Amino acid sequence: MARLDVTETFHHISFPGHIHTQDSLNYALHFQFQDRDTVIATYPKSGTTWMQEIVTLVKNRGDPQLSKTVPNWARAPWLEQHYSAKVLEATQGHRILTTHLPYNLLASALQGSKAKVIYVARNPKDVAVSYYHFHKMAKFLPEPNSFDEFLDSFLEGSVSYGSWFDHVKGWTSQAGVLANVLYISYEEMWLDLQGSMERISSFLQCPLVGEELTNSLRHCSFSSMSDNAMVNYTQIPKEIMDHSKGKFMRKGIIGDWRNTFTEKQIGIFDTVYSYQMKDCPLTFMWDW
Ligand code: A3P
Repeated sequence: MARLDVTETFHHISFPGHIHTQDSLNYALHFQFQDRDTVIATYPKSGTTWMQEIVTLVKNRGDPQLSKTVPNWARAPWLEQHYSAKVLEATQGHRILTTHLPYNLLASALQGSKAKVIYVARNPKDVAVSYYHFHKMAKFLPEPNSFDEFLDSFLEGSVSYGSWFDHVKGWTSQAGVLANVLYISYEEMWLDLQGSMERISSFLQCPLVGEELTNSLRHCSFSSMSDNAMVNYTQIPKEIMDHSKGKFMRKGIIGDWRNTFTEKQIGIFDTVYSYQMKDCPLTFMWDW
């Protein structure tokens, strides 16, 4: 079957050409954020879909109607993808926007805006493993060879959406610059979804009470999302995402990297990580 893995290079970063064009990427760079926008920013495979579901439920006070009837990409569109302008034109009221762009590309559009930004980070060993499996099923990404080769590309930042290190350092350095930003990790959400949901809902000024919270928690669980066709990507044609090659909602755990990384790969990864993150105060949870 023919692959759709053409690449669009923009500001020295590769993007999947199937869903990005120079115009769509430029549209994101010059986007007019509104103060009531919520922006979910992530490096791929860090819990983007999970946060889209959480924010949708928070904004709808735990009512799953929207989550169950409208695909995530339509209710929380990726700003930089080719369809977003059309979706956003048709959106009334509060908008939930998603982006995988590195901070430096959105800096001028976001600076001065009071949009609420939620940045989700995940430990990069689990990101690398999740991303590797995603490359196998997502036909708009290059077919990966071995994990060893993929890990090299991941560490040097030549994968789609660029370097994980630059992404995380770029966004997390904006604590004092962006007016409204919440940093949260996949691991925090995984270990304490209720506490995370309370933090997120209070940041969004929609604190959830009683059943609003219990319903939201139920619908955001891994099992519930795995069964929800509006977020598990099973509605996407096989030519674009081939679920016989792996599921989008794959494992949803912390520390799966231990099942993939060899001792040698751990050594190489840790050396690059220490160098890249030497001036960054962030810490990650690698196991549980
Ligand atoms: P795995 O491949 O490790 O299972 P993104 O949405 O950024 O592409 O991230 C996808 C990753 O988030 C996948 O990780 C997926 O299983 C995980 N994920 C999605 N929803 C989740 C949930 N409710 N709980 C835990 N993990 C979830």
